[in-house]
Amino acid sequence: MGTAEAKVSLTGIKPTGEPHLGNYIGAIKPALELAGGAESIYFIADYHALTTVRDPKSLDQWTRSVAATWLACGLDPERTVFYRQSDVPEIFELHWVLSCFSAKGLMNRAHAYKAARDRNREAGVADLDAGVNMGLFNYPVLMAVDILIMDTDLVPVGKDQLQHVEYAADIAGAFNAHYGQTFALKIPKAVIPQEDSGRSLPGTDGRKMSKSYGNTIPLFAPEAQLRRLVRKIPTDSTPVEEPKDADASAVFQILQHFAPEADSAQVRERLAAGGMGWGDLKNTLFASLNDHIAPMRERYDALMVPGGELDDLLALGAAKARKRARPVLEQVRQAIGIG
Ligand code: ADP
Ligand code: TRP
Repeated sequence: MGTAEAKVSLTGIKPTGEPHLGNYIGAIKPALELAGGAESIYFIADYHALTTVRDPKSLDQWTRSVAATWLACGLDPERTVFYRQSDVPEIFELHWVLSCFSAKGLMNRAHAYKAARDRNREAGVADLDAGVNMGLFNYPVLMAVDILIMDTDLVPVGKDQLQHVEYAADIAGAFNAHYGQTFALKIPKAVIPQEDSGRSLPGTDGRKMSKSYGNTIPLFAPEAQLRRLVRKIPTDSTPVEEPKDADASAVFQILQHFAPEADSAQVRERLAAGGMGWGDLKNTLFASLNDHIAPMRERYDALMVPGGELDDLLALGAAKARKRARPVLEQVRQAIGIG
């Protein structure tokens, strides 16, 4: 081995809605900045989304929208492997094989499944598995396959996904314990970003921006909608002339993530001095957001045109991904005796 070997890092993105400003600041931007050292693999986990997204138009729209967003934000499809999970049939074949090496007890303890049972218990539903489908139950196995089939070293994830990466390591271990002499799957490691919590962006009602609160500002909202949504962010009734505390303002918190540091420092001083109204601050935020986003939005809109470049890029990515996945699946097949 000797010198630093290039590590392979893999990120899966579940298409459960239009990407919003919070996703950009908390997930997309840091992931793309981090890409540097490792060989990077990114994919859209559209079959994972099927456990909750049951409207075909939404699944299609969100899959395209999430893919176009990552590309518009700077993901380089030449230097990375970027694909749609559903375009790689090898994943679903290996899913069966590895489900035969996944302890049911392990799945019983998975957070999402346990949470579903807890909800039933609290609601007084007698069958704790009511409303639980096998997709939800098998979710961690499919995720393990996503990781293992790409021969991944590192998986950057939020804390909520840590258990899933540990399960992937566990499942690989179970396979290796049996066939490791013939072929061993690589054991992956999770990487948790340090400042996972410090980046939480408020939404149009002042709470954390989240699809589940319906308070999001879509990253690529057209200009007029962006302006309208910025106006919706709540402010207090402090009159224009009065001093204001920048840090208590959701509008300012968003501004800080998008404006150059010197600009937001200046706005902070103007607010503290009095004489700057919330309307003025919102105009500043809109201008700053729009400056930052406009070039990416142009690229995004071009990618979203049906039958265009996005489809070509996804086809290219699928070919690269399958080329990577096939040898792993082949070796697994040989090891188990289905050559
Ligand atoms: P949502 O809460 O809208 O459903 P997701 O759970 O799909 O968002 O989040 C995907 C990624 O975006 C996660 O890595 C999460 O940390 C990040 N993220 C979501 N909302 C925010 C936010 N308001 N501020 C910072 N990061 C966020
Ligand atoms: N479960 C992840 C989420 O909900 C998405 C995902 C699917 C994933 N497969 C993956 C993440 C593989 C990392 C690696 O966010």
